[in-house]
Amino acid sequence: MAHDHHDPHHTGHGDGHGHGHGADVDWNAMGPRLESQAELFSPVYARAMAWLAREVTEPGLIVDAGSGPGVVSCLFAEAFPGARVVAVDSAAPLLERARARAVRRGVGDRFATVAGELPEALDKLDYPADLLWASRSLHHLGDQRAALAAFAARLAPGGTLALLEGGLPARFLPRDIGIGRPGLQARLDVLEEDWFARMRADLPGYVAETEDWAALLTAAGLGRTRTRTFLLDLPAPATDRARAYVAAYLSRVREGLRDALDAGDRATLDRLLDPSDPASVHVRPDVFVLGAYTLHTAVRPA
Ligand SMILES: C[S@@+](CC[C@H](N)C(=O)[O-])C[C@H]1O[C@@H](n2cnc3c(N)ncnc32)[C@H](O)[C@@H]1O
Repeated sequence: MAHDHHDPHHTGHGDGHGHGHGADVDWNAMGPRLESQAELFSPVYARAMAWLAREVTEPGLIVDAGSGPGVVSCLFAEAFPGARVVAVDSAAPLLERARARAVRRGVGDRFATVAGELPEALDKLDYPADLLWASRSLHHLGDQRAALAAFAARLAPGGTLALLEGGLPARFLPRDIGIGRPGLQARLDVLEEDWFARMRADLPGYVAETEDWAALLTAAGLGRTRTRTFLLDLPAPATDRARAYVAAYLSRVREGLRDALDAGDRATLDRLLDPSDPASVHVRPDVFVLGAYTLHTAVRPA
């Protein structure tokens, strides 16, 4: 569907996956899109890693839980040249992309993958992690509290759990875009929130949870919780990659929320996505990407 929000790729939840959470999501087909979105978001990851590096010094093992195609895993390998990185995901074809990318980027000798369902797949790790990173993957797991406890149990003493969840709904267009009713994105956000809630409720083993991440990290036995939000600010005029991201997001929304959209907003989305229309996001000059993505960290007592 349409919800990129829970991924710096969703607008607010920052998914970037736009919509496909849940058992019905075809993550493999999403490989190229997840990869190019993660590349667009790499300034956020670079700043997040620099912030992490102030406390996480010389990690030996970094685990990327729910890595997808491994863009972030490879950035970790590059940012921490003394570390081994293990990318864990249930989608084997995405892990193949991750491996190929690691080899291309010259970090293949320090890079491994583990295929399997989270959090159980972490049992396959040979060593405890010094840094376990979970970016927009936890919200795909039914019982987030139990998953966080399992993540925490895989940390070495003094190891850090870093969770990228939440932030603000992203913005790609001005409030008034000259066609349709102003405020389109705010209305889409409301529909996406409903969609996200249904997606979560349909997950196997779903447990309702208050998303107080610091409290959940503490309940998992971790301490020294910290929270920091990173901005992705790609002003107009947008690059081709940013336009492609915006167009992919809007077309997922148009498809995934078709029945919930009113006729006026559907017509606006049709125009925004028609490459031959001068008002479309493919050509209009005012397209931008502005998002805020929140990182929560906590440390296992030594
Ligand atoms: C939105 S993507 C995030 C990818 C990457 N972490 C990022 O931030 O760009 C969610 C990832 O979680 C993985 N995933 C979802 N549910 C999972 C599960 N139950 N076990 C393992 N991986 C899962 C998907 O295959 C997908 O790669």
